[in-house]
Formats: sequence, C-alpha cells, structure tokens
Amino acid sequence: MTGSSPTGLEESAETSAAPRVISAPCRNKPADGDSLDFEVIGGVPFCFYRFTDRAFMEHLQALCLAVEGDIMKLPVADNWDAEQSDQEMPQFGTTSRFPYYNMLLLEDVAVIHIFRAIQRCYLTAAEHQSLDQSPVWVQCWENVLRRDGHLHKHAHSFFMHGHLTVATPGSNTGYEFENGDAIEIKNEPGLLTLIGRAGVMHYTTPNPTDEPRISMAFDLCRVPEMNNGTLNRHTFIPLL
Ligand SMILES: [Fe+2]
Repeated sequence: MTGSSPTGLEESAETSAAPRVISAPCRNKPADGDSLDFEVIGGVPFCFYRFTDRAFMEHLQALCLAVEGDIMKLPVADNWDAEQSDQEMPQFGTTSRFPYYNMLLLEDVAVIHIFRAIQRCYLTAAEHQSLDQSPVWVQCWENVLRRDGHLHKHAHSFFMHGHLTVATPGSNTGYEFENGDAIEIKNEPGLLTLIGRAGVMHYTTPNPTDEPRISMAFDLCRVPEMNNGTLNRHTFIPLL
C-alpha cells in the first residue's frame, strides 16, 4: 500500500526499521497566520490571541446563533435580577444562563481551536506571572446582544477570565484599573482577550445596530477557588 501517513511523512517500507521520530504538537505555537501577544495594561497582564481565518469566524458566528434558542431554555442564574438592577435595560439573554452550559462542550470541531487558544494565552500569562503548574478549569458561555444591548460594568472573581469577539457591528470593551487608568479596546472579530487578574472592572459599549454582537466569554478557575461548591454552581471543565 502506498500513500502518506496522517502526519504527512512517508511510511517506511522497512518493518524492522527504528521507530520514526516526529515533532509533538507545540501547544504554545499559534496556528499559521494567528498571533499571540502579551502586554501589561493598567498594571494588569493581558494576552491577546487573534484568529485570522474569516471562514472560521463566520462558522463560529453561525454556531453561536444556532445554539441561542436552546440556551434560552435554561434557567436564569441565581441573583441575576439583583446583579442587573443598576441597568436601564437588564439583559436576560444567553449571558444570564452562563452557569448552566459550557460552549467548549459543543459537538463542533471549531471549539477545539478556542480551547487551544485559551490554553496558549493562559500559559503565556502564567509564565509571565511565574505561576505554578496547578490544574486549571474553564467555563465558557456566549453573549448575544442586539440593538442597545451591552454588558454593564462588572468584574469577575475568578483569577483569570476573558472573551472572544465573534461578530460585532461596532463596539468596544472598556476597562477601569485600580491604578486609575481607563481604556477601551475596539472589539474585532477573532480577537480573544485574556485578562490575567481577578476583579478588573470592565463593560461593553451598546450595540448601535440591529445586527447581533456576539462574543464568547470564559472564566478560569483553580484551587482554592475550584471546590465542590464551585462545581455545583457552574459547569467548569479541565483546561490544563
Ligand atoms: Fe465580563
């Protein structure tokens, strides 16, 4: 039988030959065309991963919209009303169901690329902060915001968190830092942002159009945050 092996290397006709040697996949190396950047902003470590494949992002957009209906059948998170009470227009979309599903468990091959990008960003941020190699878990949900929809100012209690812009008709994510700095970063489809610290206040600007603004957001968790109480309330899965 002739042909290439799955790795692209020609199979040896010599059955007695020594085992062939191939390179193991490198978890830290971004896919061709994608980029990974680390920067400290406002005293907080940020990692940015950019997906550059347009077809991939369009597929992701269709996937996010396809599952929206089923997500909306899930219950709203406890205390969601109270958390939204400072808003003129409370959001009760897919974001409000965030503890009860994990986008990284969807049966679609696209999500493995997001999983890997989060891994790469985490490993980069962890290296800069000299973190040990304790196990890390991830939970991922989607935000689908239509006209005037936005995420009001809030912070995450988990030690790292982030978001991937899937589609946007024009919006920014704003950050307010403990050192007094405040910035807004333009949301671009394909831009995955990891914020390497808990408690960073952030928000999104309102969607000015009828086109949905879609993003996927995630929390990272590890011991001691990760305990049975956390597992009972959320749907974390192992990241590393
Ligand atoms: Fe957030």
